[in-house]
Formats: sequence, C-alpha cells, structure tokens
Amino acid sequence: MVDTVGTSPTERPRRTRRTDALRRMVRETTLQVDDLIAPLFIAAGENIWRPISSMPGHYQRSLDHLDREIDELRELNIPAVLLFGIPATKDALGSSAWDSAGPVPQAIRRIKARAPELMVIADVCLCEYTDHGHCGVLTDDDPALITVDNDPTLELLGRAAVTYAEAGADIVAPSAMMDGQVAAIRTALDDAGLFDTPIMSYAAKYASAFYGPFREAAESTPQFGDRRAYQMDPANAREALREVAIDVAQGADMLMVKPAGAYLDIIRAVYERFDLPLAAYQVSGEYAMIKAAAANGWLDEQRTALESLIAIKRAGAKMIITYYAKDAARWLSR
Ligand code: PBG
Repeated sequence: MVDTVGTSPTERPRRTRRTDALRRMVRETTLQVDDLIAPLFIAAGENIWRPISSMPGHYQRSLDHLDREIDELRELNIPAVLLFGIPATKDALGSSAWDSAGPVPQAIRRIKARAPELMVIADVCLCEYTDHGHCGVLTDDDPALITVDNDPTLELLGRAAVTYAEAGADIVAPSAMMDGQVAAIRTALDDAGLFDTPIMSYAAKYASAFYGPFREAAESTPQFGDRRAYQMDPANAREALREVAIDVAQGADMLMVKPAGAYLDIIRAVYERFDLPLAAYQVSGEYAMIKAAAANGWLDEQRTALESLIAIKRAGAKMIITYYAKDAARWLSR
C-alpha cells in the first residue's frame, strides 16, 4: 500500500533496524573467517621479504620467511592459502612451473609439514614462469601474429598441476584461461593417481585492469600485447555462463569468478545456475584501491573492506580469495 502524504506510513522497515540486536537478528548474510582464502607470493632464493609497493601489507617472501606467516594464518584460523611463485629463472615454456624444486612445491611441502590442517591451493598458470609473461606457450608465427598456443599449453598446465598435487597441494586452481584446461588437468591428475585432488577452476576470469598490482607482485606482466585473446571481455556476462558450463562438464569441483567487486552480477548468475561451491577473487587492484583511499583518509578502511567482502558473499560466493584475509579475520573476531 502506498501511503498518502501526511499520514503515518504503514510499511516501516526501519522497525527492524532500530537496535544492533535487531539488525543482527534480521541480517541475511554473514561473513566468517571460514570464507577467507589468503594469497601468498613465494620467491625462489633466501632471505627475501620484499614489500609489494602497490599492495601494502603484502610481500614476496622466500621459504625461510614463510613459517611466521603460516603461524599467523593458523592463529587466525584462516582455512586456506593460495600460492603463487616467483621462480629463479624464466624461459619460453615456463618450465620452472613444473620443477618440483621450485618455490611453490617447496612451500607446499613446508606448509603441509607445519600446518597440515591449512588447505593449500596452488595456482596453475605459466605467466609467472614464462620469459614473455603470457599464460601459455607462444605460436612461432610471424611476430605480428604471435598468440598463445592453446593445445600445447594444456600438457604443460597438466604437468604443473601434478607437480603441485604431488608436493601435497590440497587443491589446484588453473587460471590460464586455456580452452580445455580443466579436462587436461583432470586427466593428468588421474593418470598420476591423484584422484582426490579437486580442481578449483578460474572459470570466468576477465581481462581486467584490476590485476595491475598483482603483476608487480608476481613479476608476470606480459612483455608484449595483453591477455585479451584468452581472458574474457569485461563486457560479457552470458559468455561467463558458457565458460562455467564448459568447466563443469570437464570436471571442475569448485568454480571461481574473478575479479569480484566489479563482477557481482556474474557471481550471482553463476550462483543461481550452478550448484558447485563458488569462489570469487577480490583481486590486487580492488585491494589497492581501498588501501590507497584509506591511506589518504578518504575512506574508513575496515568498514570499506568488510562492506566489499559482504557484498561478494551476498552476491553468492561462499569462498573469497582476498588480500584482506588476515585483517578481516581480526576484525571479525572482535
Ligand atoms: C595468473 C593470475 C593473475 C591473477 C591471478 N592469477 C594475473 C593475470 O591473469 O594477469 C591476478 C590476481 C590479482 O590481481 O590479485 N594468470
């Protein structure tokens, strides 16, 4: 009923907002520490603990600086980490990606020995390992026509996934956006007897400017061109559902939408249509924006960060990969 001007409204939604207890009672979505996944950058070498300037509070760290971080994450009861590697050497194929002595396999073994209950997710991509910075191997065409060669990349992604799973990774998360990567990785894992390793697929991953700070963190900026021939066009929503359906058919166990904040509609659409556990990645640029505004005194960091996370949860993501994981865990426990 619409109330006429001057009379008392009959619909009074404010009645259930009056006190904190009432607001807690009617709250539809809650964020829990169980929802959080913390990304970590593992550098080859020793005694490296290098701040990432565009991501205050985050570091590239070598193995000898990992234990303290693991203990903190465990103390905060954060259930999972997502690992990225910064290898000692890069080449055209990205062969350090499947080197069992590389930074990520070593970190996996170290974490599983120290904190077996902490779930370790290994990102599976070649861009941190290739000298050209692309997510797969290149065609050897005319330089003007160079592209990432889809099918030869699949085998390499499979090798990398097996390497991480054999090192003890609990979950592998392919992020290269190659067609057929989930099937190729599933086959490679199964052939190696790794039947129980789930695949968290970066199913709808957009070619986003919000990845800027990450490329400093992971030293993975493409040396030429960009990723628009394999990552998705930010203008497309229906295409995301097609990407997700393909990954589900290929055996994905968990799905991911990335980035998160500018893609809440995509999270919601995937949530409504697919019943696999859903993750969203609040990426480096989303974190950097809040950090920068907070540093200027323009935004309240805690409130803005928690609001951004609850929005992602409300949209339908159960798991949230976020550089705010530790802060959010502290804020939530108060
Ligand atoms: C690897 C990968 C990227 C991110 C996660 N995995 C970079 C990219 O695709 O360029 C970005 C994460 C972030 O920005 O926090 N392909």
